[in-house]
Amino acid sequence: MTEFVKIVEVGPRDGLQNEKTPLTLQDRKQLILDLMQTGLKAIEVGSCVSPKWVPQMASSDELYAELPKDPNVQFSLLTPNMKGFESALAVGCKEVAVFTAASESFTQKNINCSINESFEKFADILKAAKEHDIKVRGYVSCVVDCPYEGAIDPKQVSKVVTRLFDMGCYEVSLGETIGTATPNRVKKMWEACLSELDAQFMAGHFHNTYGMAIANIYQSLEQGIRIFDSSIAGLGGCPYAKGASGNVSTEDLLYLLNGMGFETGIHVEALMQASQNISQRLDRKNPSNYANAYLQTRCA
Ligand code: HMG
Ligand code: MG
Repeated sequence: MTEFVKIVEVGPRDGLQNEKTPLTLQDRKQLILDLMQTGLKAIEVGSCVSPKWVPQMASSDELYAELPKDPNVQFSLLTPNMKGFESALAVGCKEVAVFTAASESFTQKNINCSINESFEKFADILKAAKEHDIKVRGYVSCVVDCPYEGAIDPKQVSKVVTRLFDMGCYEVSLGETIGTATPNRVKKMWEACLSELDAQFMAGHFHNTYGMAIANIYQSLEQGIRIFDSSIAGLGGCPYAKGASGNVSTEDLLYLLNGMGFETGIHVEALMQASQNISQRLDRKNPSNYANAYLQTRCA
């Protein structure tokens, strides 16, 4: 039997949050409509964060409200605090994500509080989410390196990951935020986390700054991880991790998974169309090798 790998498409959030010129709500909506044609089952729509901090994600609740809903596609919104959660709740969002980090300095820069304080905010969110039957995903950034503190101890990563899970997050995504990790270090990070938590509750979120994302995903697959975040056309970065590039592209991730015989439910042609549309809209060369090769062979 073929094994299923879940892909969480984070382009409309992680991707667009880092664009110099914010896209209009209409363009953000079009990207998500395109992605809905691809067979992707999980799409991050945006973030309910301060528009002063991340103007690119302003009005994500409005965007969510405007989207047609499909029972086969789980939409989610990032919510760092109760204010964000209430915005998501008001538009009927059924899944939110809370986010912290394994590094104190990064947490401070990203959400203006300590790791402990972030958990205090999340406790309120998780309580309210339970009352309203809303799923909560957790994110931990800097699971291998931090742009301010350097290497992060895998034990510290597993501590923060299990704390989020114990609090009630149904799944925790481990963010290799600055894309500096290599597979040997990713292996150690997963070893520490897998000694505390089953693989089915964790996702890999790899940025591709040094071109290592696919190698790191291969390593993660070897250790039993079956959920990965990725970004159409490799969009993205984090506004609080200078120089970090986008996530692994969904296209290249799909090529790896197809080649290894995993099932994803994604239709290549629709994905390539979505990828071409957003690259044209942003007037940007797509960093995905698969997308470029696919386009060339089709035009040949
Ligand atoms: P703060 O300044 O400490 O918040 O920011 P505050 O509670 O003191 O409020 C200050 C102002 O922000 C007030 O407005 C609030 O109303 C407003 P004012 O009175 O000055 O006009 N505010 C909000 N507005 C809208 N929505 C909200 C909200 N909360 C407060 N939810 C805060 C704290 C968390 C809000 C801020 O630090 C923030 O917005 N940070 C943005 C963080 C972010 O989006 N980072 C990128 C996503 S994480 C990521 O990319 C990593 C990941 O991909 C994994 C990986 O790769 O590692 C997930
Ligand atoms: Mg990210």
